[in-house]
Amino acid sequence: MKKRVLSGIQPTGRLHLGNLIGAIENWVKLQDKYDCYFFIADLHALTTIYDDPKNLRDDIQQATIDLLSSGLDPKKCVIFKQSDMPEHSELHLLFSMVIPVPWLERVPTYKSKIDELKGKDLGTYGFLGYPVLQAADILIYKADLVPVGKDQLPHIELTREVARRFNQFYGEVLPEPDDLLTKFPVLPGLDGRKMSKSYGNTIAISDKPEVIIKKVSTMVTDPARVKKTDKGHPEVCSVHQFYKVFAQDRTDRVAKECRAAERGCVACKKELGQLLVDYLGPIHQRRLEFERDPAKIKKILSDGAERARLVAGKTLKEAKQAMGLI
Ligand code: TRP
Ligand code: SF4
Repeated sequence: MKKRVLSGIQPTGRLHLGNLIGAIENWVKLQDKYDCYFFIADLHALTTIYDDPKNLRDDIQQATIDLLSSGLDPKKCVIFKQSDMPEHSELHLLFSMVIPVPWLERVPTYKSKIDELKGKDLGTYGFLGYPVLQAADILIYKADLVPVGKDQLPHIELTREVARRFNQFYGEVLPEPDDLLTKFPVLPGLDGRKMSKSYGNTIAISDKPEVIIKKVSTMVTDPARVKKTDKGHPEVCSVHQFYKVFAQDRTDRVAKECRAAERGCVACKKELGQLLVDYLGPIHQRRLEFERDPAKIKKILSDGAERARLVAGKTLKEAKQAMGLI
């Protein structure tokens, strides 16, 4: 029996290179080894964009196209959209009966996200319950492994606590999942901070070649390097970090030339821009095909939901039985 893997990604804006490197490429590998369930976490996206969801429909569609174009294959894994699965929401509600509010206030991402998005009112019921919904996403499939980045570890820990508490009250229904920590160097954004939608410093997977090249030309480099004749420090430069991730074979040469002031930043970024365009070339090619065929995307998601329901429906029934509802 293959172990079951589950993970989700939020369609808050277009998916970007950080998502590709940190999550999607890893999922593409996992689908060959495990019984995989991957989904678009559109309800989670609503916890932070509830006041302005005008792009949500389009972002969900584009995120689905990104996943498929990057190599997720509906023949190898189950791909679906969270809101197509009311089972998640129902289990979330059942969990809300037993989860102490202080557990949620203590989750480190709760305060850090509020700080990150200051100016936005995140004092909502839904946002506080974000990790409860995530626990429902995971436990409803009785997932063995949850591939996530380091920032998500507290949510997986909370998921285990939710499972334990549920099982203590109602009997052994929900197995505790393990995290499958994705190790990859954090991809910086255009401004040198972590690449993230909320910082507006991303390169989207769906960005056109000319946009990519233009964005790369605005990247921050070694701040101590003012003139081309100044020797550079690649270890502090985001552009160099990108070479490390996308073109390992060029990193040593780039670093050496940079340190010796034999390479200018403009040329260095030009080379990187073209490199990213080439890297994304096959993905962009497949994107075109999916964009021409929205009916196919719709079918993939509805088939995915149908397959997901076979597992989710069963777990929900067990949970309701355990709680005395049926
Ligand atoms: N919270 C995750 C993130 O922002 C997305 C997510 C939602 C998720 N539900 C999940 C990840 C379940 C793993 C399992 O990255
Ligand atoms: Fe960064 Fe390249 Fe400029 Fe060196 S030459 S500082 S690696 S952009």
